[in-house]
Amino acid sequence: MPEVASRRHSEVISAITAEALQRADARWEDLEGIAVTNGPGLVGSLLVGVAAAKGYALATGLPLVGVNHVEAHLFANFVHGPNESPAARDDLLPAVCLVASGGHSDIVLMRQPGDYKILGWTRDDAAGEALDKAARVMQLGYPGGPAIDRAAKSGDPSAVQFPRPVIADGLDFSFSGLKTAMVREHQARSSDGGPLDESTVADLAASFQEAVVDTLVRNLTQAAVEYGARQVLLAGGVAANSRLRQKMASWHADSGVPVAFPPVKYCTDNAVMVAAAGFAKAARHGWDDLDIDVYSALPLADHV
Ligand code: KG4
Ligand code: ZN
Repeated sequence: MPEVASRRHSEVISAITAEALQRADARWEDLEGIAVTNGPGLVGSLLVGVAAAKGYALATGLPLVGVNHVEAHLFANFVHGPNESPAARDDLLPAVCLVASGGHSDIVLMRQPGDYKILGWTRDDAAGEALDKAARVMQLGYPGGPAIDRAAKSGDPSAVQFPRPVIADGLDFSFSGLKTAMVREHQARSSDGGPLDESTVADLAASFQEAVVDTLVRNLTQAAVEYGARQVLLAGGVAANSRLRQKMASWHADSGVPVAFPPVKYCTDNAVMVAAAGFAKAARHGWDDLDIDVYSALPLADHV
């Protein structure tokens, strides 16, 4: 509900900004600049963030930089707290990256920070969106990804044969057919659409998750081989998925190519990754003017 989301943004943005500074034990004077997501996403919510960031920039005199949300997810691989190391190495390039979230299933070639090519994206639903919809059908609640991940732990991934959708000639995805297959499988087991017993849900969840993960891993590893990736990076909420991490870890064991996954807290939407991507962008190209706009669609790069 975009209208509810943007209203909620405007209600909480000042309090959240104040709390973030407080928890970081920082004052405005300690900062070098302000990074803000200006696309892609819901325009109403983006407008609230960008308007607030411009206000803070004007009031504090700090410079401002607009950040692409997909690039921010990539940078989750390079951020770290005081007692952590980054998930990825910034000297192993090119990297092939999967950004899989509620809105994206992008395979990105990172030649250098700021120099990208889209190798594949989804023609319809995103991977996270498919997981969220499947969870809704099974009445597991929102967000669906973590719920399916949990339910799948006691299920059999080969119990139900879901398709592994293929797009001919290329690395694009299509996840909308999988969702329809889930609706059909659910209906076949519950004629009134009511909840299923726990072990049936576990089998359906495990089988559905397996199909989504197999499809992501197939295209991602094909891209890594084709483009000679020196490392593979995972990012976005779906990168928190335990089965995806497991399968990519075993691909790493076979291929020898390093695979990085950020800690879960940096996979799902967060502001640290936005700050990191913004700081790097400002270092490359300078800060933006105060007239930056917002974009519901903002491709990170050209699609090959
Ligand atoms: O990156 P994110 O927090 O927000 C967007 O930019 O969309 O991603 C949210 C998505 C949701 O679809 C959620 O179901 C999925 O990430 N997700 C997961 C897991 N945790 C979150 N999907 C699979 N397994 C998980 N453990
Ligand atoms: Zn996101």
